[in-house]
Amino acid sequence: MHSSIPPGTAPLIPDTPVILPALLLCDFGHLADEIKKLEQAGAKALHLDVMDGQFVPQLTYGKVVVEAVRRAATVPIEVHMMVENQDESAIDYATTGADIITVHIEGLIRPKETLATISSTGCRAHLAISPNTPVSDVESLLSHCAGVLVMSVEPGFGGQAFQPSALDKIRLLSDLRASQDQNFYIGVDGGISTETIASVSQAGADLIVAGSAVLQQENYANALQELEYLAQKPK
Ligand code: DX5
Ligand code: ZN
Repeated sequence: MHSSIPPGTAPLIPDTPVILPALLLCDFGHLADEIKKLEQAGAKALHLDVMDGQFVPQLTYGKVVVEAVRRAATVPIEVHMMVENQDESAIDYATTGADIITVHIEGLIRPKETLATISSTGCRAHLAISPNTPVSDVESLLSHCAGVLVMSVEPGFGGQAFQPSALDKIRLLSDLRASQDQNFYIGVDGGISTETIASVSQAGADLIVAGSAVLQQENYANALQELEYLAQKPK
């Protein structure tokens, strides 16, 4: 396990959110170089969008590429599963060396069993909710997962506009976590930029995915530092 994010059980909720650059808009002709550049720029974890062209319209990459990223990267990696047959696929990807497997509640048939199987491999099992899915759909599963990823865009493409309705969901999850004395991570994915990152951090996000806000910038280090600065919570 390469993770500084602890697997399965009791996570340490970070004071400053961790920003995870998304490998969707990178230069795939130079994947290992891109990973090195991101790590040198200060990336503490990476987010991988696995899309099958069916669960979402776009087709990205599969297990072979995830395994290649695992070999090239030294930081923890999150695999965001946007595929049909979430239950079988997620379990299959849990052996890639990923630190977090994030599955969509909308596509799961056996959520509790699948989350338990992923966790049993030593991976953190996170649940993602799309913009039209309410927090109440995952409420009964909060003690069975190690994190919830709130989608702030419709899954499928990078570079879309942030949907502010995600903020209420992050706040609600943060309240539920405190009131139920739980310790799952709260993530957010989609449309994060210098304009929107402070609001998701203030709302309670711990893991913030950033695609175009890092990968489509000239200088990854500058982009990451600015996002990290804006995501800092007042002491
Ligand atoms: C969208 C993906 C995101 C995407 C984020 O379906 O899940 O991870 O890469 O890209 P930006 O930050 O550009 O919205
Ligand atoms: Zn994603």
